Amino acid sequence: MTASDEPLVLGFETSCDETGIGIVRGTTLLADAIATSVEEHARFGGVVPEVASRAHLEAMLPTLRRAFQLADIRPGDIDAVAVTAGPGLAGALLVGVAAAKAYALALDKPLYGVNHLSAHVAVDLLEHEPLAEPAIALLVSGGHSSLLLAPRIGGQELTELGATVDDAAGEAYDKIARLLGLPFPGGPHIDRIARDGDRAAIAFPRAFTGAQDPAYAFSFSGLKTAVARWVEARQRAGEPVPIADVAASFQEAVVDVLTAKAVRAAKDHGVGHLVIGGGVAANSRLRELAAQRCEKAGLVLRIPRPGLCTDNGAMVAALGAQLVAHGATPSNLDIPATSALPITTVLL
Ligand code: KG4
Ligand code: ZN
Repeated sequence: MTASDEPLVLGFETSCDETGIGIVRGTTLLADAIATSVEEHARFGGVVPEVASRAHLEAMLPTLRRAFQLADIRPGDIDAVAVTAGPGLAGALLVGVAAAKAYALALDKPLYGVNHLSAHVAVDLLEHEPLAEPAIALLVSGGHSSLLLAPRIGGQELTELGATVDDAAGEAYDKIARLLGLPFPGGPHIDRIARDGDRAAIAFPRAFTGAQDPAYAFSFSGLKTAVARWVEARQRAGEPVPIADVAASFQEAVVDVLTAKAVRAAKDHGVGHLVIGGGVAANSRLRELAAQRCEKAGLVLRIPRPGLCTDNGAMVAALGAQLVAHGATPSNLDIPATSALPITTVLL
């Protein structure tokens, strides 16, 4: 271990279209280097796996070099290597896993193959103090939307209280953005455009909010259809589509349900803390409404800054550092890349 006694961890993230290399010492962020292939996918309206894999291969070494430069350390200084082992695109994951294994082997350091989704939550530790009590974690990304009960953020124990039964929240944002003619990925564009709209303009449906419905499950595909029908009806009638109002009303339907269920989960489980992570946690209205509702409910709310909510390598290093610090058994060097890694498997 290093002089400061906190593990110096190198993290690799390549699950989708961001090549992220992070370096942390304990809970201190030293480097967060990112290369993205998003522009290469934009014209296809979604991430093209083959293109993403090749882009990771090309970006890997320059991004690693940049991270070491930013952190002002040499490769030999690190104590451990962490890598996203899943979930994600198989070919994309393979590039990061192979690179991380090579580093671990060459440097003779332990390897930690971690869950991307847990890393989205653990990254909060780089900005805020550890939470003393169990927390509810709301994980909202492009492929997942789940409510989790975590005895400790960055720990290996997790209970999934509920998840989406169809589209993830980010997926819904991306699909609605496409419908409205906005670029991919659509989340940030809807976020921006919604600021000029009236979020009460259109009453879009909120799924699973009845007394008999599953308390912690989500569904966004009915909302997606409702928005599409509404827009089509306007177009058929030859009327202009008020894009800002549609974006604001759609967004309100999403964040209303996400925050209401997260607060309910905390209350039901007697938990005083809520952590929100994943790309959609960068959303300004989600952050605002979560803050309002947590304050009202007497909950402590933690959301990492927007730049750490979307995919990055720092989150992987942050989770790796927690695992090292709490004595987790490192992964074998023959671990696979697991594209459908379950959310509750924090470490392979
Ligand atoms: O966590 P992430 O970067 O990648 C995955 O693990 O999926 O999440 C990406 C998702 C995309 O669907 C993107 O549209 C959404 O996060 N997103 C947002 C915002 N920024 C990114 N959604 C709403 N508002 C945002 N500001
Ligand atoms: Zn992600």
